Amino acid sequence: MKTIIKNKNTITEKDHVIILSDKKTKISSISLNSQEKKFIKEQQKENKEIIILNQYIRKIIVVNPKKINNHNLYLENLRCLGDKVFEKIKGLNTITINNADKEIINTYTFVEGMALSNYKFTNHKSKKEKEQNVTIYIYKNDDSNNLLEIERLANAVKLTKDLVNTPFSHLKATDLARLAKEAGKSSGFKTTIFNKKKIQSLKMGGLLAVNQGSIDEPTFSILEWKPKNAKNKKPIVLVGKGIVYDTGGLSLKPTKGMDIMKVDMAGAGTVIGAMYAIASNKIPKHVIGLVPATDNRPSGNAYAPGDVVTMFNKSTVEVLNTDAEGRMILADALSYAEKYNPEIVIDLATLTGAAARAIGHFGIVSMQKNAKKYHEKLEETGHRTHERLAEMPFWDDYDELIKSDIADIKNIGGPFAGAITAGKFLSNFINYPWIHLDIAGPAYVTSKYGYRGKGATGMGVRLLYEFVKKH
Ligand code: BES
Ligand code: ZN
Ligand code: ZN
Repeated sequence: MKTIIKNKNTITEKDHVIILSDKKTKISSISLNSQEKKFIKEQQKENKEIIILNQYIRKIIVVNPKKINNHNLYLENLRCLGDKVFEKIKGLNTITINNADKEIINTYTFVEGMALSNYKFTNHKSKKEKEQNVTIYIYKNDDSNNLLEIERLANAVKLTKDLVNTPFSHLKATDLARLAKEAGKSSGFKTTIFNKKKIQSLKMGGLLAVNQGSIDEPTFSILEWKPKNAKNKKPIVLVGKGIVYDTGGLSLKPTKGMDIMKVDMAGAGTVIGAMYAIASNKIPKHVIGLVPATDNRPSGNAYAPGDVVTMFNKSTVEVLNTDAEGRMILADALSYAEKYNPEIVIDLATLTGAAARAIGHFGIVSMQKNAKKYHEKLEETGHRTHERLAEMPFWDDYDELIKSDIADIKNIGGPFAGAITAGKFLSNFINYPWIHLDIAGPAYVTSKYGYRGKGATGMGVRLLYEFVKKH
């Protein structure tokens, strides 16, 4: 399903039209009879946000967004209206938006909502559904660069959703790496893939420990976008948890809870999607993505509770729960990131059920170390994109909870503050400004979440893209 967004300078009597309006706007570009005008007025008076006129062969939809004083929330409502209107025009191949709204940004945001809404995961349906491509025309708008940007960003979110929605049966660590490489080829970033042998030679003990129980090879992918006109001297590094399936390992999960664990590579999927958006829009920033990947399953050879693992950075970890595997593979990737002398590292992971329990699917649980300013910026970006952050306390007290009797640290911190102790664990592997984003809540939803849809949401892609672009 593709969304194409274009400019257009005429509206004919046959065009389906959306008029993005407010109560004061005079609808002049379209001939309406007095009854129609009256109907619209009445509906506007009743504060109807979406007003539909069926004019024989065409639809006219007047979108009348409610007043919201908070600008970011106003924009988010426009995205949601884009989604609702998209539902109403299902089956149409083209639609023209009359930009009666003077603020073109409002039109772009509405269109963004429509484009994001145009998604369905049909790869595994035996009866192929016909792809519905939709072309959205914007009336009398001269800037086509912005339109292409929205289109590419929506494609990036779609890529992430496809990756996350793909079941484990069809997505092993090697597949994830291959798909990252393909995304790089089509958007312009370079991908280097380490195989098991290389990972062994690097002694990435965390990644190898989790992979021990698997019949499939792990991968470690490095995605790099380094344009000649890059404005930053030190790179921004994005790290994504790539557990292609999380059974819990020997600390096996119950079926309920395991059933959606194909989602556990959403951090990786988000990093790949963000890199795709950054490269295809040629953002002048040097950005590196790191994706450690494996599945986590039990077997005769699986790592076991009680094991001690020597990590890539030579520190030791006592594994007390094999289901706390994400932090094991992320830790190695975070230590590896040091070699780039990064300006800031942001990791994304479906790391803990505790994060999901804390704030649900409405936002991203965040923590930071040495990165207060960057976090402030990211928070701002979160409000603008409505991929919001909820920062957790990161007091020293929590460090006590992951001390081990026999190794440097242990991989679980007890029954309380699970999202924070997971973050604390990771903080042992960084020596640069760092932000940790736990997306276990919002990455995947079991009922429709507005324009984000059902299943994978792609939450985080627009956040990272805007942050890298504006930072
Ligand atoms: N992948 C899970 C976290 C998760 C939960 C992701 C729900 C998406 C939705 C993670 O690896 C995990 O199992 N975490 C454990 C940690 C515990 C053993 C300390 C958890 O949250 O229960
Ligand atoms: Zn787990
Ligand atoms: Zn996991």
